[in-house]
Amino acid sequence: MLRARILATGSYLPENIVTNQDLENIVDTTDDWITDRTGIKERRIVSDGQAASDLAFEASLAALKKAQLKPKDIDLIIVATVTGDMPFPSTACLLQAKLGAKNAAAFDLGAACSGFIYGLHVANGLIRSGMHQRVLVVGAEVLSKFTDWQDRSTCILFGDGAGAVILEPTKEKHGIWSTHIYSDGNLSDLIMLPGGGSHAACSRETILKRLHLIKMKGNETFKVAVRTLEELASDTLEKNNLDPAQLSLLIPHQANLRIIQATAKRLGMPMEKVFLNIQKYGNTSAASVPIALDEAVDAGRVKDGDYILLEAFGGGLTWASALLRW
Ligand code: ACO
Repeated sequence: MLRARILATGSYLPENIVTNQDLENIVDTTDDWITDRTGIKERRIVSDGQAASDLAFEASLAALKKAQLKPKDIDLIIVATVTGDMPFPSTACLLQAKLGAKNAAAFDLGAACSGFIYGLHVANGLIRSGMHQRVLVVGAEVLSKFTDWQDRSTCILFGDGAGAVILEPTKEKHGIWSTHIYSDGNLSDLIMLPGGGSHAACSRETILKRLHLIKMKGNETFKVAVRTLEELASDTLEKNNLDPAQLSLLIPHQANLRIIQATAKRLGMPMEKVFLNIQKYGNTSAASVPIALDEAVDAGRVKDGDYILLEAFGGGLTWASALLRW
């Protein structure tokens, strides 16, 4: 059976580190509160002039280098982002130009924190059908530019970064065994950036009302996320006839340590088999899973034949999972 496999991974994090102590000087919060409630200690923030396509470019170059491929070898670029450079052209097209990937079609995919796994789903389908051969899937976000730095309940959560993978067809057992994507637009008001689109086009009023910045009902989102992810992880294993004990690694979206711990507990997985980098980067939305995957690969935590579960939950609402055999 033809399926897609991940040929190489790459990631890029901006150099600028903002610690919880730095945030204590901006809003009424403490390092202890942020650490206890989220697991986050610091996050990366872009420098002036750095946009999502710049982060995507660096992550893509790293993946291309590991794959020993040239940009012209890629025939499709999917960039998962909700913080692209501009409404259009797509960040994927801007990335295509930066890379000089002249043989690639390119489009953006918006599914917030689930965007990267949604991208894997699309790429996997196109590769299985034979329509594309080498697909670059990137998650790239510059959330810091859409964060309300006066809102202590959200500004402590987010960070910037990008992660990338290159997919190609394989007839072996290694690769993407299954992907699962879901949504519930009835809960769209839990996490949103209401201003700047055709609903409330950018104006003096939208800016004064701070509609151009992320709004989140954190506690309600938390409860839905725990419930949904626990079920998603179990269902994904069941659909692949796998037992949690057969999983080598769970790579969850890094939104909140307590959400991750609840999912692992429900699966009966020890935390040693869960990849964590939330303490260093916070929630980087669509970039979170591919950054974590790249770091897991580099750290030698992913070995030939391993079963790996990816999962994410985010604005939309959207949620998604992927079962990989490395
Ligand atoms: N420092 C100190 N106190 C704070 C802070 C802060 N930074 N933020 C909130 N508080 C206070 C609140 O005001 C509240 O005080 P009150 O009881 O006097 O009213 C108290 O802490 C508790 O607030 P909650 O919102 O109930 O805190 P909770 O334990 O739910 O943690 C958090 C908040 C961390 C945001 C959590 O709800 C969360 O992680 N939610 C899920 C986020 C998520 O998964 N998002 C999905 C992806 S995001 C995307 O798609 C872009």
